[in-house]
Amino acid sequence: MNPLDLARPEIRALSPYASARALADSAGILLNANENPYPPAGDGGLGLNRYPDPQPAELKSRLASLYGVAEEQLLITRGSDEGIDLLMRTFVRAGQDRVLTCPPCFGMYALSAHIQGAEVIEVPLIEKRSEWQLDSEGIAAAPACRLYFLCSPNNPTGNRVPAAQVLALAAQVSEHGLVVIDEAYIEFTDDESLSAQVAGTPNLVVLRTLSKAFALAGCRLGTVIGSAELIGLLRRIIAPYPLPTPAIHAALKALDTPVERQGQLAELAAQKERLVKLLQDHAAIEQTWPGTANFILVRTRPGTALVASAAEAGIRLRDQSAQPGLDRCVRITIGTPAETDKLIAFLREWP
Ligand SMILES: Cc1ncc(COP(=O)(O)O)c(C=O)c1O
Repeated sequence: MNPLDLARPEIRALSPYASARALADSAGILLNANENPYPPAGDGGLGLNRYPDPQPAELKSRLASLYGVAEEQLLITRGSDEGIDLLMRTFVRAGQDRVLTCPPCFGMYALSAHIQGAEVIEVPLIEKRSEWQLDSEGIAAAPACRLYFLCSPNNPTGNRVPAAQVLALAAQVSEHGLVVIDEAYIEFTDDESLSAQVAGTPNLVVLRTLSKAFALAGCRLGTVIGSAELIGLLRRIIAPYPLPTPAIHAALKALDTPVERQGQLAELAAQKERLVKLLQDHAAIEQTWPGTANFILVRTRPGTALVASAAEAGIRLRDQSAQPGLDRCVRITIGTPAETDKLIAFLREWP
């Protein structure tokens, strides 16, 4: 089965909007996009009076080498959130197709599926000997779905999904579905990305983002990696000028200094180690899942109110108790050494 045959017929038949920037290069006198010829006050040389390149060439080439794929295998999006939404709108027919998720997981998969009018099939992760794992048998027994969302390391449980399991699932569902592996936190691990497998696995899609390890959440820049044909389909429905010029500039600058980023990752790992030690010995913490990303998941003892007490101390943590299997659970993001000092001081006094 060619995964392109899985796209909604309306999308396959669509002629994409041809924006002025996409039709012509931006050399010469630009009188083709109804722009104002004068830069705005405070422009700082960015040229904000002009529409941006829909897929800026330099950023595209930098991301292709960063992720080890060909330029035609990637689409730059407004964060992975937009990548998830584009996949949903391209492949999922409202009221007909199903989407599979493995909760506890990132909430946007189900939200996006519901917005698209799809039924969400949940096959929860299994917790075995303090490790969260995919329920491969449960997934095999589930009704056929159009999109299968996996995440490694998973948010909020922090576990990895072995590459072999992702590829086995892609092989298993190749007649009717695409497997989407979200690697938002992979830079915090030593794991190899599955992007290299996209070429030989047409129904595999990889999501990457600059929001986490690259510290660019405010730029809203994510990347969908898939076959050139699949990327071509997503391009049909993405907004004509999705990426704002200041975000493109900031990202290019930030990507110039990978060494600093590595320094940050080591610092975050050191702060995480301090916190894990404290949490594992804490009388009011029943269980700690350190995971492999820049956060820790904990289960508090009954009758404690970690999120509310921390908020009173000016520290914001994320309640996860509404997720299946995460009763009394809280996710703690790793901060700076000074922030960690404050959190540790608070935890020593709590509850
Ligand atoms: C697993 C996962 N995927 C994707 C995202 C969204 O990333 P972006 O900022 O690129 O939209 C998040 C954000 O928290 C996440 O946890």
